[in-house]
Amino acid sequence: MAPKLLLLGGTTEASLLARTLAARGVEAVFSYAGRVSSPKAQPLPTRVGGFGGVTGLVQYLQEHNITHVVDATHPFAAQMSWNAYEACQQVGTDLVALTRPAWQAQAGDHWRPVADIDGVVDALAGEAKRVLLALGKLNVPAFAAQPQHHYVLRLVDQPEVTPELPHHTVVVARGPFDVAGDRALMQKHGIEVVVCKNAGGIGAEAKLTAARDLGLPVIMIDRPALPPRGDVATAEAVLDWLAG
Ligand SMILES: NC(=O)c1ccc[n+]([C@@H]2O[C@H](COP(=O)([O-])OP(=O)(O)OC[C@H]3O[C@@H](n4cnc5c(N)ncnc54)[C@H](OP(=O)(O)O)[C@@H]3O)[C@@H](O)[C@H]2O)c1
Repeated sequence: MAPKLLLLGGTTEASLLARTLAARGVEAVFSYAGRVSSPKAQPLPTRVGGFGGVTGLVQYLQEHNITHVVDATHPFAAQMSWNAYEACQQVGTDLVALTRPAWQAQAGDHWRPVADIDGVVDALAGEAKRVLLALGKLNVPAFAAQPQHHYVLRLVDQPEVTPELPHHTVVVARGPFDVAGDRALMQKHGIEVVVCKNAGGIGAEAKLTAARDLGLPVIMIDRPALPPRGDVATAEAVLDWLAG
């Protein structure tokens, strides 16, 4: 039976894989969570929105005769990754993750690692600073606990509700980003601290180089625990896995 693939996306790497699959004529459906108002168009049939937990995903896999699932979600999208793992186990569908190594601090970096968002909020106790939050809209409310800072929020969409932070600036921008642009952003806003997730990969790495160039400290959130699925690092390796 020819493979029919479900590609769980939302990352630069997933979009690159979609191009490879389309170019090779692999039958595949691209899936977005629906977090952003106008997601990047894909060269594959695309569905948008949650499946309805593990039960909903099991049903989707069965109804659409999915033979293979590639989890190319962001490493912090742990709920989706666990759901995919459990649903594929239940149905017996092959699963692989397209992953990227975590970023490693280099000479000249001033990183403070923390376990989660609460760890960032604790690390920000103290005098008022200008802080770049490169985190996504869902994490913004937690920073109300440290209201003294001026937060620069880099978000994909203009927020529908004004963030409840007394001092903030919203910058609407969508990756992938480049070093010159990120350095200019940090200089323009007088950034003193950068907060980000250890996403790894290419789409969001520029801010780390920019922070290093400017000698800025980075509060780096460690990755959450992910399921014990097999993983590959490139689109070509996904094709090899499909062929195997
Ligand atoms: N977390 C981040 O920092 C981050 C950064 C960049 C991009 N993203 C992308 O944004 C999306 C949402 O991330 P998240 O952290 O909110 O995810 P999450 O917490 O792991 O997932 C929450 C729920 O959203 C739905 N969902 C997530 N990804 C989906 C996908 N690709 N297709 C269909 N439904 C999906 C699922 O709903 P049901 O249970 O109803 O199926 C899932 O249970 C992901 O696709 C991820 O790749 C996330």
